[in-house]
Amino acid sequence: MSDDIRKKRKREHIKYSLLLEKNMTRNVFDDITLVHNCLTQVDINKIDLSTELGNIKLTAPIIINAITGGFYKANIINSKLAEIARDLDLAMAVGSQKIALNDPVSASSFKIVRKINPNGIIFANIGSNASVEDALKAVEMIKADALQIHLNAPQEIVMREGRKNFEGTLDNIRKIIRYLNVPVILKEVGFGIAMEEAEILVANGVKIIDIGGYGGTNFITIENKRRRKKSNNLQNWGIPTPASLLEVVYKVGNKADIICSGGLKNGLDVAKSLAIGAKAAAFAGLFLYILLEKGSEALKKRILEIKNELILCMAMLGANNISDLRKRPIIIEGKTYNWVKNRGISI
Ligand SMILES: Cc1cc2nc3c(=O)[nH]c(=O)nc-3n(C[C@H](O)[C@H](O)[C@H](O)COP(=O)(O)O)c2cc1C
Repeated sequence: MSDDIRKKRKREHIKYSLLLEKNMTRNVFDDITLVHNCLTQVDINKIDLSTELGNIKLTAPIIINAITGGFYKANIINSKLAEIARDLDLAMAVGSQKIALNDPVSASSFKIVRKINPNGIIFANIGSNASVEDALKAVEMIKADALQIHLNAPQEIVMREGRKNFEGTLDNIRKIIRYLNVPVILKEVGFGIAMEEAEILVANGVKIIDIGGYGGTNFITIENKRRRKKSNNLQNWGIPTPASLLEVVYKVGNKADIICSGGLKNGLDVAKSLAIGAKAAAFAGLFLYILLEKGSEALKKRILEIKNELILCMAMLGANNISDLRKRPIIIEGKTYNWVKNRGISI
């Protein structure tokens, strides 16, 4: 596939993700309620938001997830996101670096992130079919603290120019993990991870999983919009974010650090993710939308609001830190309740 086609595709992903984000109504966590604590005994000023992903320490459990890189506008987007990540001390991932592995011009739109934020936590990003050499290059390009490997089979399958052969995926992931000297994060991009696959990933050396559930950015819809004529009716495909999180925490929560993402919108969503068992929460579509529609300052303000909402929720739950938050009872209703019951997950 030519780099021009890749660049065009990346531009279109941004265009259509903005359209979807604008029209998003339902909150993925509607079925989850955190049980209020009338006898909270915390001092709100002493609440500790720090968390860990493997040996990576984060001062807050909010991550700017992988979005883009590799073309002119991506340079601007990544620069602005990197400034915000630096100013708010948040971890940030770049988009897939495949486009930049052999192209110094494209590489600059990724390298800028490290240049702007020399001491921040930055994640590289590559597909699950990348070679070890490419994975090493991606990490080196931005002096990354970890490498995200994305699993995006549905997107590839429905995309006209997408990959159709997934043989050897697990062997490849194992190989990359073996040769890399930074932690590896396995992430979905919006279709979720089931407990069976989480278990396989962990058995093969994965220690950090971003569940990337259904309910937010939807690459089947985006790919359909990229075509003049819709090619399928599969836009409801995927494991909803709370269901995927409950599955993965239930099965491997004691062996891996879990990041929750896929349709998160506010601090209450982050609190719910952490209470279920995630170590951090990640945002892509919402942050991109605010950045491009309202600007950097608006995004910064919104992220601070999310952080503050999380602190308020923790105060009302009597949680001094994230490990306290995980001990609070939660109520699961509706479709999510049926899901966990059907899957034999005991809460
Ligand atoms: C425009 C756009 C481009 C994306 N590109 C990548 C990518 O290159 N690599 C990747 O791992 N995830 C990519 N993602 C997926 C996000 O990192 C995230 O997993 C997904 O969007 C679900 O989170 P959300 O609902 O908060 O957007 C992209 C998301 C958006 C909106």
